[in-house]
Amino acid sequence: MAAGSAGLFTPIRIGTLELPGRLFKTATAETRATNDGFITQDVIDFYLPIARGGAPLIITGNIYISLEAKSAPRQVGADHDDKIPGLTRLVDAVHAHGAKFIAQLNHCGRQLVPRFVGSPGAVSASEVKELMTGTRPRALTTAEIQRIVGEFAAAAERCKRAGFDGVQMHSANGYLLSQFLTPYTNRRTDGYGGSLEQRTRFCREVLRAIRARVGPDFPIIMKMNGSDQLVLRDGLKTAELVEVAAIMEREGVDAVEITVGHYESGFCMARGRFQMCMRNMVDGALNFVPPMRRWLFRTFRPLIALGANLLWSPYEGFNLDYARRFKQRLKIPVICVGGFRSRVAMEEALAQGSCDAVSAGRAFIADPYLYRHLRDGVPGPRCVECNACIGHLGSQPVECYHPMVRMEKDAMLAREG
Ligand SMILES: Cc1cc2nc3c(=O)[nH]c(=O)nc-3n(C[C@H](O)[C@H](O)[C@H](O)COP(=O)(O)O)c2cc1C
Repeated sequence: MAAGSAGLFTPIRIGTLELPGRLFKTATAETRATNDGFITQDVIDFYLPIARGGAPLIITGNIYISLEAKSAPRQVGADHDDKIPGLTRLVDAVHAHGAKFIAQLNHCGRQLVPRFVGSPGAVSASEVKELMTGTRPRALTTAEIQRIVGEFAAAAERCKRAGFDGVQMHSANGYLLSQFLTPYTNRRTDGYGGSLEQRTRFCREVLRAIRARVGPDFPIIMKMNGSDQLVLRDGLKTAELVEVAAIMEREGVDAVEITVGHYESGFCMARGRFQMCMRNMVDGALNFVPPMRRWLFRTFRPLIALGANLLWSPYEGFNLDYARRFKQRLKIPVICVGGFRSRVAMEEALAQGSCDAVSAGRAFIADPYLYRHLRDGVPGPRCVECNACIGHLGSQPVECYHPMVRMEKDAMLAREG
C-alpha cells in the first residue's frame, strides 16, 4: 500500500492476521490476576468492553514468562501449562466480540524492585545499577540466557495453545531484551555484547525459538524503542534502533510497535501530568524501593512532579518522528504508540505516511469504546493524561483513576452497556 493512502478504518494485514482497522489497544499491565499469575474475572472484565467497542486488535499487558521475569504483584503469567485454561477463558471472551488478541511476553530484567514481588534479586545483561529503583542486577551467564530463550518460546507456545492470535516480544522500555540492545546496560564482552549485531543476538534467538515453536503463520510483533532517551548515558539513538528493526525484519518479525525510553529515562514513555501519578506512586510501588530513595521521592514529590510536567508535557503522537524513520526503512507494518486521543491526529499520522497503524493505552482505559466512538463520531470519555493509572501501576487494578473522567466512563458504560 502506498504511504499515506490508508485511513483509520482501512483494513491492514499483520503477517497472517487480517484486521479491519488501524487503531489498536496497546499493552497496559493489568494488575488484576491472582498473585500467582492466574487469570481472574477482573482481567476479563477489563478487556470485554474494549473488545465490544470494536477494537480490531488488543495487546495484553506484559505477561511474565517465568517467575524470575515477573515484575509486579497480580501480573498475568504464562510461565507454566497450568496457566493455559485461564488464558483460554480470557481469549475466548475477547474473541466472542470479534477482536484479535495478542499476548505481550516479557522478562523485566533489572527493572525490578525484588521486595515488590518477593524475588531474591534481579538479573540483566550486565551489573549496571538501575537508578530509579536502586536495584543492582546480577549478569546472566550464557547458560541462563539460553534458558530464558527457551522460556520465551515455551510461553509463546502456551499462548498459542490458549488461542491467542499472536505474540509480542517486549523489547522496549528498558526490560530485559531492551537491556541487551542498549550499550549502557549491556557491557558484555561475549557474543551477546559489543557490536549492534551481537547486542541483537538475544532478540534474534528469542524470535527464532518462538518461531520454531509456533510455526511460520503465527504473527510475532516486536515492541521496541524509537529512542532510549538516556541522557548522558550510552543509550540507543533512532538510527541504531532502525538497524535493529531491519535485522529483526530479516529474521522474520511481522511488525514493530514503536515506543520510547527506559525507566531511567523518566516519563517520556507516557507524557502527561504528574501530580496524581507521583502521589499514587509514593503510596504504591515506591513503598518497596530502598528507604533513602523512598524518602527522596516522598520529600521531593511536588518538585519531581513539577519538573516532570515541564519536561514531558503531553501531545498526540509523541513517537511519530521516530516511527517515520522506521517506516522509511521497513516493509513490515510499523505501529506507533504515544499520546493518541483524537481521530484527527490518528488520521494525520497515517496520511503523512509516518506509520501503518496507531495504538493507544490510556485513551482506551478512559474510553473502552474508543474505536467505535471515533468511527461513529460519538464523543466518549476523554483521557486527560493525569497519569493516575501509571501511578497505580503494579499496586492497583488498571483503571481510570481521574474522578471526573471515571464518572463519565461509568455513566457511559451503564448507558451503552
Ligand atoms: C497503566 C499502564 C500500564 C502499562 N503497562 C505496559 C505494559 O505492560 N507493557 C508495555 O509495553 N507498555 C505498557 N504501558 C505503556 C503503554 O503501552 C504506552 O506505551 C504508553 O501508555 C503511551 O501510550 P498512550 O499515550 O496511548 O497511553 C503501560 C501504560 C499504562 C498507562
